[in-house]
Amino acid sequence: MLEHLDRLAPDPILGLMSAFRADTDPRKVDLGVGVYRDESGETPVMQAVREAERKVLERQTTKTYVAPAGNAAFNEAIGRLVLGEDHAALTEGRVRVVQAPGGCGALRLGAELIRAAAPDAVVYVSTPTWANHVPLLSGCGLKLERYPYFDVATGGVAFDAMMGALDALPSRSVVLLHASCHNPTGADLAEGQWREVLSLIRRRGLLPFIDIAYQGLGAGLAEDAAGLRMLCAELPEALVAASCSKNFGLYRERVGALISLSQTGPAAEAALSQLVRIARGLYSMPPDHGAAIVARILDGGLRESWERELAAMRGRILGLRTEAAQALAAACPRRDFSHIVRQKGMFSYLGIDKDAVRRLRDQHHVYMTDDSRINIAGLRHENIPYFAEAVAGALG
Ligand code: LMR
Repeated sequence: MLEHLDRLAPDPILGLMSAFRADTDPRKVDLGVGVYRDESGETPVMQAVREAERKVLERQTTKTYVAPAGNAAFNEAIGRLVLGEDHAALTEGRVRVVQAPGGCGALRLGAELIRAAAPDAVVYVSTPTWANHVPLLSGCGLKLERYPYFDVATGGVAFDAMMGALDALPSRSVVLLHASCHNPTGADLAEGQWREVLSLIRRRGLLPFIDIAYQGLGAGLAEDAAGLRMLCAELPEALVAASCSKNFGLYRERVGALISLSQTGPAAEAALSQLVRIARGLYSMPPDHGAAIVARILDGGLRESWERELAAMRGRILGLRTEAAQALAAACPRRDFSHIVRQKGMFSYLGIDKDAVRRLRDQHHVYMTDDSRINIAGLRHENIPYFAEAVAGALG
């Protein structure tokens, strides 16, 4: 039965990880997969995580199952981290949180919930969007369409085109939005634009599904969630997929949460009951270890030290953005790379074509996805000059 299966090409992002690992050139630069790296090129375990992990292990007396919705303390804490303490939706009792295996798990749970509520619903994603949004959201049978988002000329959001497209959607369409640090472009909505998106969503009767995977790595914990918080305060319904991979550095532990906002308390309970049933049918229960660590950090006296570490990571990325833009301006005087400084979070589009990306990989050992997305955190002060010269060389 299995002998006729086609062999598939590797995932565009994860495939790059293996290609980079196999490259033995000492000058190699990994700007591919979106993981934070420090100045030595490592993805460190955060100190707050180490400390919390020690406490979790010391106090853990059993490995028995936790609960279908996961770790209650984590769910409570992540809801407040994402929405903000005392957010109206929390105090009104309209929010339910289900722990998920990573942000990916949360996205899939949300998609399955939408399918249970409205099997014909269409989900609209930005052009471009994170490649894995496509299988995660459409794999359960939902139809996926696109709305314009990125303006190549400015490196910012093509806001008028985006609003024009969203304004033409039938009611009960789902709009996938990136809370901040847009993956792959780094182009974010400004506060006033979020307000306009909010009134459009309300007017057209759309459901926002917001992906927040980089909270704290753009402008700050509150700033990176500001648009999302505004939508959740003023709309009757929303779904939010949160990830702790990047801001807690817990990638392999698979920690995330699906936050669902319903119009009333009973509707919220119904959504929760559906979510745990969906989870049970997909993977039964989420892994506990990483969630227990996050709960301990947020409520166990480690929040301040975690926030300090996160601020340092954010500061490093901001510094690298400036340095990279300056080095590229010097090495490639005929091109404009100033958008790198204006964009937010871990990623920027370099804006070079696929052939140049291939030359960078094959001739200069600089790895990025084919669309020329670069992980800014993969740069180091010491290799920025090499990177800029390599880009100049690849552009010819
Ligand atoms: C990325 O965009 O590179 C990260 O979110 C890692 C992944 O799973 O694709």
